[in-house]
Amino acid sequence: MKPVRHFLDISELGERDLRAMLESARDLKRRWRENDRPRPLLDMVLATIFEKPSTRTRVSFDVAMRQLGGHVINLAPGDMQLGRGESVADTARVLSRYVDAIMIRTTDHAKMLDLARHATVPVINGLTDRTHPSQLMADVMTVEEHLGPISERTVAWAGDGNNMACSWIHAAARFGFELRIACPPRYRPPEEVIDWALAHDARVHVVDTLDEAVRNADCVVTDTWVSMSDERVRTGDVDTTALEAFRIDARAMTLARNNAIFMHCMPMYRGREVSVDVADGPQSVVFDEAENRLHAQKAILGWCMT
Ligand code: CP
Ligand code: NVA
Repeated sequence: MKPVRHFLDISELGERDLRAMLESARDLKRRWRENDRPRPLLDMVLATIFEKPSTRTRVSFDVAMRQLGGHVINLAPGDMQLGRGESVADTARVLSRYVDAIMIRTTDHAKMLDLARHATVPVINGLTDRTHPSQLMADVMTVEEHLGPISERTVAWAGDGNNMACSWIHAAARFGFELRIACPPRYRPPEEVIDWALAHDARVHVVDTLDEAVRNADCVVTDTWVSMSDERVRTGDVDTTALEAFRIDARAMTLARNNAIFMHCMPMYRGREVSVDVADGPQSVVFDEAENRLHAQKAILGWCMT
């Protein structure tokens, strides 16, 4: 029997599989536009569990399943026995008897790993407090659409060293691009993620200032300063003053290369992590990035389920 193919993190997958998924995403995007619409997941069912809000992840996985011939059952945690104390392990075993794959967005990375440990169908990470790998597949696809092979490019990340930053670090190791990360000391990505990247010969550099990160970069990326599972929201400590110096604005973009692109996984908070003119300016590719979630999700589903 074929081993179960989970999509848990970019760091858990090899470059060959990741590249195959990107190829497939590109191919499916082109074919859909040419009205060539294969249905490899005919009658298959994906269960989605969202412990946190979502627009892009929810809709892109749902539409991806439908366009590939399958169906989605959305499970709100409050409507499941999981919300009343049934174990993750039992939930995983039971769902595996009904559906062909499970996608989960959770506040707790360990819960996703637990689900995968006990599921006998593929589990897909739809964002945790630690990482957001399905977004990164769309992001790498978007960089390559605009700028060619990402291995020849430099990406600058500025702001909070959050779940997106961690997945960018994983991607830098797997896809071979240079990544410069600028965060205030308190907001640096977890040391173990940086250590993992360095142990995998990744060209990842943590720098102190925004200017060091963006100078001559090909792609400038940021994300919200306050993530959904941010501990600061729970404790009421949402002072983001230290992040002000890391806002992406027109001045920062002039330091990057002339043809540099601006990316953001969205939702985007204009006037905070990015200025309005950059968010809505000619270098911004955020809506291409959002669209590519659909094509990348199809490729992930196909890789996991066929
Ligand atoms: N980028 C992203 O994951 O968006 P949602 O939170 O809307 O799914
Ligand atoms: N870092 C953000 C990403 C949202 C898609 C969060 O976790 O809220």
